[in-house]
Amino acid sequence: MSTLLEVGNLRAWYGASQVLHGVDLCVSAGEVVALAGRNGSGRSTLAKALMSMVDADGLRRFAGADLAPLRTFEVARLGLGYVAEQRDVFPMLSVDENLSLGLAKRRAPRFTIDDARALFPILLERRGARAGVLSGGEQQMLALARALVGAPDLLIVDEPAEGLSAQMAARVGACLRACAARGIAVLLIEQRLALAPGLADRVAVMGHGRVVFEGTPQALARREDVVRDWLGVG
Ligand SMILES: Nc1ncnc2c1ncn2[C@@H]1O[C@H](COP(=O)(O)OP(=O)(O)O)[C@@H](O)[C@H]1O
Ligand SMILES: [Mg+2]
Repeated sequence: MSTLLEVGNLRAWYGASQVLHGVDLCVSAGEVVALAGRNGSGRSTLAKALMSMVDADGLRRFAGADLAPLRTFEVARLGLGYVAEQRDVFPMLSVDENLSLGLAKRRAPRFTIDDARALFPILLERRGARAGVLSGGEQQMLALARALVGAPDLLIVDEPAEGLSAQMAARVGACLRACAARGIAVLLIEQRLALAPGLADRVAVMGHGRVVFEGTPQALARREDVVRDWLGVG
């Protein structure tokens, strides 16, 4: 598999406060990588650094391009989809308008708007509703669908099941499996690895702004020390 995303010695700051202290991580084309870690370990900041949303330095390459000089919309245009923790939708616009705004203009998407509606029928049922009146779970589906129709080669999703009912979380899981089945690589940020089992090819664990473990889910399960020290469960 060819390397799609390459991150080396990535550091990031909020003002004078350094949050990432040299992150190394690779994602291959079509691969699903779970990025686990406690709250505050720097997972969201890593996503924002890739999307040029925070001050950062270090190596970050995607599909052969250096992301460092690019602005957020240029990163997205290269094929890096991002669904933030706060699931941004345009609240005053309708579901359909939100989807249309996400539609890739220069690249053929693996998911059309109809494909996204097949995955999440609620988006068709509520197509005329303002996004702001949808439930949290419905907004998450809209945010995911909007990213998918943007033709990503890699989708970064930040805690997509957080705060959702078990049923909504299962739908999100099905969406990510559909991504993987269509060859879209996924970087799945989670705290408790709720969706990752059976989905992730590899797990990277973050602690204090670094990757402290990287391996298969099976290898992680054998590392009680990593689970205890960096995931705080078991
Ligand atoms: N906008 C911000 N300004 C200042 N510090 C921040 C900001 N966002 C996050 N941080 C700090 O950066 C660290 C990493 O946070 P974050 O990347 O959100 O972690 P995670 O997503 O793993 O919970 C934390 O110490 C957090 O308090
Ligand atoms: Mg976070």
